[in-house]
Amino acid sequence: MTSVTCDPTGDYLTVDLGGKSRRFHAIWLRDNAPDPETRAPGNGQRLIALRDIPKDTTICAATLFDGELEVTFDPEKKTVRYDLGWLADHAYDGAHDRQRGRTAPGTTLWDNTLSQNVPTGDFTALSRDQTALATWLDHVIRYGFAKVTGGPVEPEALFKLVDLFGYVRETNYGRHFDVQAEVNPTNLAYTGLGLQAHTDNPYRDPVPTVQVLYCLESTAAGGDNMVVDGFAAAARLRAENESWFDVLADYTGRFEYAGEDGVCLRSRRPMIELGPDGELIGVRFNNRSLAALTDVPFDKMQTYYAAYRRLAEIIDDPAMEVMFRLEPGEAFVVDNTRVLHARKGYSGVGSRWLQGCYADMDSLRSTYHAIRGARTLEVAE
Ligand code: FE2
Repeated sequence: MTSVTCDPTGDYLTVDLGGKSRRFHAIWLRDNAPDPETRAPGNGQRLIALRDIPKDTTICAATLFDGELEVTFDPEKKTVRYDLGWLADHAYDGAHDRQRGRTAPGTTLWDNTLSQNVPTGDFTALSRDQTALATWLDHVIRYGFAKVTGGPVEPEALFKLVDLFGYVRETNYGRHFDVQAEVNPTNLAYTGLGLQAHTDNPYRDPVPTVQVLYCLESTAAGGDNMVVDGFAAAARLRAENESWFDVLADYTGRFEYAGEDGVCLRSRRPMIELGPDGELIGVRFNNRSLAALTDVPFDKMQTYYAAYRRLAEIIDDPAMEVMFRLEPGEAFVVDNTRVLHARKGYSGVGSRWLQGCYADMDSLRSTYHAIRGARTLEVAE
């Protein structure tokens, strides 16, 4: 039997929700009131500021009706009804996971065993079928990357792929960039050299959170693409040596790119980025653009380099690599805050032409949640 009791102070109430006893503060309930004076019925945006809620707000009455909790607040004498399902979905009076280095719900860490089952979607299906698109977007969110096959083989076709989930982020490299061998490259990415697995543009703040690489020609030998789960690499480092994980998370790295006229990009961010509750939210790893480290104290610098070296060894471990080759009309999308990408070296015989661009995960997640329904607040476990 559902019940509600109000604390004598009026500061909070306690309500049974699905067999769990949950407390809610008066100020929290008042701020989250769903009535049309507090929330705009059309767009759901809050119409009041915190200054409009009296500082001494308390609960003076709380009653349960069918599936709803009715609360009256003092001193406003305002009565509001809350859906019990909504309260259950938004309860905060429970165990909070603050495990350092944990990953968000809906994240699946992976290693090279995923090579047998690379997450992939067919371009035509993604364009025509919202369910297929949602499944593919879930893969990008869950694994941090996914392939696309069967796309058009025409210049700038990558924009049609981005149109499915978001918006291009233009940078100094342009709205898109061509990855072909160049005689005098402005960036090592434009040569036939193999590249160590990296995240792109760590010298930006914020980094582009999505990178798209789209293949238009592929007759040169080699040049296979490879991805590594940066979150899995960080988790492995933590399991091996927690203090090495900590030094890369606790001290700020520096990244820089000034390889072309008029550009001097700099950032100060850690290689392993944690949220305030310990959640692993980003990995920045790029040997080409790590600048001189000056924010690591003298007595931590050797430990920092030992940790950086070990993280690099883990990233280079073939057991962590998922490898695939892109044929014309195929592409892959990576969450650039998590998944590192690399390219094996390729020969100058034949051609290999990829086009790349940046976009962002916020729009990709938005598209996913919009398809799945606004009530889906978290990616399903
Ligand atoms: Fe790259």
